[in-house]
Amino acid sequence: MIPNYSKQDDWEKYNALGVTQYGQMTAGSFMYIGPQGIVHGTTITLLNAGRKISKKGENLAGKLFLTSGLGGMSGAQPKAGNIAGCITVCAEINPKVVHTRHSQNWVDEVIDDLNILVNRVKQAKENKEIVSIAFLGNIVDVWEKFDKEKVFIDLGSDQTSLHNPWAGGYYPSGLTYEESNNMMANKPDLFKNKVQESLRRQTDAINKHTAKGTYFFDYGNAFLLEASRAGADIFLNSPTFQNRKNPPKSRGAIGDYEFAYASYVEDIMGPMCFDYGFGPFRWVCTSAKVEDLAKTDAIAIRVLEELKKESPEEIQQQMSDNIQWIKGAQKNNLVVGSQARILYADAEGRAKIAEAFNQAIKNDEISSPIVLGRDHHDVSGTDSPYRETSNIYDGSQFTADMAIQNVIGDSFRGATWVSIHNGGGVGWGEVINGGFGMVLDGTVEASKRLKSMLFWDVNNGITRRSWARNKGAVFSAKRAMKMEPNLKVTLPNIVNDALLDNLF
Ligand SMILES: NC(=O)c1ccc[n+]([C@@H]2O[C@H](COP(=O)([O-])OP(=O)(O)OC[C@H]3O[C@@H](n4cnc5c(N)ncnc54)[C@H](O)[C@@H]3O)[C@@H](O)[C@H]2O)c1
Repeated sequence: MIPNYSKQDDWEKYNALGVTQYGQMTAGSFMYIGPQGIVHGTTITLLNAGRKISKKGENLAGKLFLTSGLGGMSGAQPKAGNIAGCITVCAEINPKVVHTRHSQNWVDEVIDDLNILVNRVKQAKENKEIVSIAFLGNIVDVWEKFDKEKVFIDLGSDQTSLHNPWAGGYYPSGLTYEESNNMMANKPDLFKNKVQESLRRQTDAINKHTAKGTYFFDYGNAFLLEASRAGADIFLNSPTFQNRKNPPKSRGAIGDYEFAYASYVEDIMGPMCFDYGFGPFRWVCTSAKVEDLAKTDAIAIRVLEELKKESPEEIQQQMSDNIQWIKGAQKNNLVVGSQARILYADAEGRAKIAEAFNQAIKNDEISSPIVLGRDHHDVSGTDSPYRETSNIYDGSQFTADMAIQNVIGDSFRGATWVSIHNGGGVGWGEVINGGFGMVLDGTVEASKRLKSMLFWDVNNGITRRSWARNKGAVFSAKRAMKMEPNLKVTLPNIVNDALLDNLF
């Protein structure tokens, strides 16, 4: 879309006219792989969030994670909570969604009464249970009730669909599910007011918990953005935060409007994964055979274990988490439809795994071609200032250079197809995603293409993150130049802030 015509209302209009659509990115690249990607990503996020709040050697046992949404993506949270080993409470307002998730074993228990919920959570904490509980009701009421009843929340987040706040993405507290559906259709202005009032209440309750030590993060659903648009008390410079004993520190965002809370990419995925080149590499076996997928899993484990022996200290944790994931992947039984797999790997890991697949296809160990791709939620390819690129603070998070460069660079370097999308994940007009698909058919040409393209695809993102002075990315850019002497990346010169401040 032309930028001036890329607002939410424009999407409704031009979609109705049939001239454009909102395809999201992963499906748009013909690489939708069912719930597996989101379960893996959520597990990695929770494990790393846990590491942020835990003492050395401590795990998530007995710790409480409160969040919301049991929908398409958000429904992965309870399962990921169980894999990560905590107590998960996930509020969901739609009874049908709750019962579907429960009957399909995505969540262990269902509770629809706040008093019963409080008692159940206290018991689970005491026994250090690993359990996931769906609360049938509004998330705002849970935040408020837990504050009143002094239930300590270790980790807090939200995954209502706030990228689409006025048309069913967020249900305001105080209204039933049906009342909300009626109001959004018949009194849209009143409904908008109710949503904004509810967001202000939710934020106030979250602020009370974080004052007590809860670690809250935005989960890529535009919560912070919409709460701020609703006038909620959510900016870092507010007295609510500045008057605390330990006020949250600035992360370096431009201007006065920095949020008091970080998005999960700013705090977790960005500095721990993306800056080091780790992101959701994925593949699909075109034979659709279970045996082929099992062979690819075995190859990936072998390659990663080999690479881990030589890996620097900085990426050991990511290597271990992903070896553990791929070893348990078949047991977790998350394949729906395509025989596909996802794991987080860096440029070296992706290229080595891909090369081993190509050899196995050539040798007829794998019966037909494999398609490589990646999620939008990655090191590079997606420019999304409140999500994928939210830990870039030099101003370039508001440009779409990287998505466009990745798509162009990937196509020149041998991608089989590329795709460029407006709006994937966080909403129309808020993001540009660039994706690719690459077919491996066991030929020498495929081997050349994969080396050239995967190297570019990851390192273009690292270069941009490094120029924004992200420490992990500077480390990774230097490492990439050592591995490929033809690569020349201009590294940033770090300015001493004190010297600069003295000049003005
Ligand atoms: N972090 C990530 O990796 C990631 C990945 C994908 C999607 N997302 C974002 O997460 C959000 C959710 O995605 P989804 O696919 O699950 O959407 P979805 O619409 O399928 O699910 C959201 C659910 O939240 C429920 N809900 C809304 N308001 C509520 C309230 N006040 N209290 C309780 N429940 C409420 C809805 O009934 C719905 O079932 C989206 O904004 C999406 O862009 C994040």
